[in-house]
Amino acid sequence: MGRVVYGNSSARDLIALKRSLDALPPVRDSLMEKIGSGLLKEIAERLAAFSELENLAEMIEKAIVDEPPVSVREGGMIKPGYNAELDELRDIASNSKRWIATFQQKEKEKSGIKSLKVGYNKVFGYYIEITNANSNQVPEDYIRKQTLANAERFFTPELKEKESLILTANDKSKALEYEIFMKITQTLSTHSRELQETAEWIGVLDVLTDLAEVAENNNYIRPQLTDDCKILIRDGRHPVVENTLPGGFVPNDTEMDCKENQFLLVTGPNMAGKSTYMRQTALIAIMAQAGSFVPASHASIGIIDQVFTRIGAFDDLASGQSTFMVEMVELANILNNATPRSLVLLDEIGRGTSTYDGYSIAKSVVEFLHNRGKVGVRALFATHYHQLTALEEKLKRVKNYHIAVKEEGHELVFLRKIVPGATDRSYGIHVARLAGVPEKVIDRANEILKELEKENMLEDAEDSENGKKEKAKQQHAIHR
Ligand SMILES: Nc1ncnc2c1ncn2[C@@H]1O[C@H](COP(=O)(O)OP(=O)(O)O)[C@@H](O)[C@H]1O
Ligand SMILES: [Mg+2]
Repeated sequence: MGRVVYGNSSARDLIALKRSLDALPPVRDSLMEKIGSGLLKEIAERLAAFSELENLAEMIEKAIVDEPPVSVREGGMIKPGYNAELDELRDIASNSKRWIATFQQKEKEKSGIKSLKVGYNKVFGYYIEITNANSNQVPEDYIRKQTLANAERFFTPELKEKESLILTANDKSKALEYEIFMKITQTLSTHSRELQETAEWIGVLDVLTDLAEVAENNNYIRPQLTDDCKILIRDGRHPVVENTLPGGFVPNDTEMDCKENQFLLVTGPNMAGKSTYMRQTALIAIMAQAGSFVPASHASIGIIDQVFTRIGAFDDLASGQSTFMVEMVELANILNNATPRSLVLLDEIGRGTSTYDGYSIAKSVVEFLHNRGKVGVRALFATHYHQLTALEEKLKRVKNYHIAVKEEGHELVFLRKIVPGATDRSYGIHVARLAGVPEKVIDRANEILKELEKENMLEDAEDSENGKKEKAKQQHAIHR
């Protein structure tokens, strides 16, 4: 429609438009049949209001051939029978073509040259071509037009006359086709508002039917949206990850409110499913607010104004930002803009710098978000700084959760279940082994870990808040 309105559409655009318009009546009729929701009803009514658009489809159907050329200036767009004058001009042109065929036959017989042929090109027009082998048989009334390497081209006054007839008829019919075409696009232009509105409603319908299909195929349920600040999800799933693990995805609950469960501190081994869990919560909330069904058995979402996330590590070297700088820029944006109505996801904040730096930032962020505007912000916070879990005791809206695993001998079994309470192991070395890090490195890492554990460093950071001075000496190493 943009091209139609700006006057640079092609006949192919009109055919495409016609195909779209042809789809409208069945869509509208099926909406009329079973109107369930208010929005569907509204769409049906809007589409019905523009029923005259069907006339446009008919107008295009009558005028334009099914497979028109790209160019609008070269003819071949308009159907025979649509315009009498055009038909007449085309008759002249095609009769003349028949005349040319007869003329060629006649000249062959007259000259006795079997290879004589009548041709046409854009520069020289119509010509009679005779190969050099027959140059001694050229009839006397032929006038030379062009010399080629192995042939000579001629014309006769009779051919010349026909040529101008054909060419004017052709020119005229092309011009007329263009004129007809432009008239049709002008008519279409006057309906551009209806066409665009219709497209918009069809777009809404398209979204709704797609969401319905996804909901049906993936067993989603209708969420409730509430005015309070609770988020209650039963058996929530990650809509994308669950599709990569057919039947293998473990559903989890999420319970958040603005009281004891406002700030969920999620710990648990690497690979346990922390990131997946946090993201599924945010995705379910976003889907619910977008009007979609959600992957859960129950969901009620206290309306969220913005979702803020800090996830994954990437850098933006080209614009002069290190990995950690990117992390901090994103963090700054979150802390400066999150409101009590927001949902914040912080996935392992503070990992890109030294342990003490990172831990200090992470802890300060928890405190800040918890106390933000006195009421705090709903947040999911995944971390390997296990010392942070001590904050549950100090900050009343913080709640510890972890994702359960089972140790069976040397094996770590991921249960994928989120459960209340903290964990104090990350099993990072375990995951390193799974990933194929050489055994030698793994063994040595385990040795180092044992030594560090003996020295008991950051672990006690929380307890030592008061007795900092005594323990400060010990706090010199690494978190697990
Ligand atoms: N609830 C779940 N059920 C089944 N598999 C899961 C679940 N959550 C996560 N996973 C699997 O575990 C992998 C690691 O999850 P991820 O959330 O990245 O772990 P973490 O952030 O704790 O290191 C995912 O890619 C997914 O394949
Ligand atoms: Mg993760």
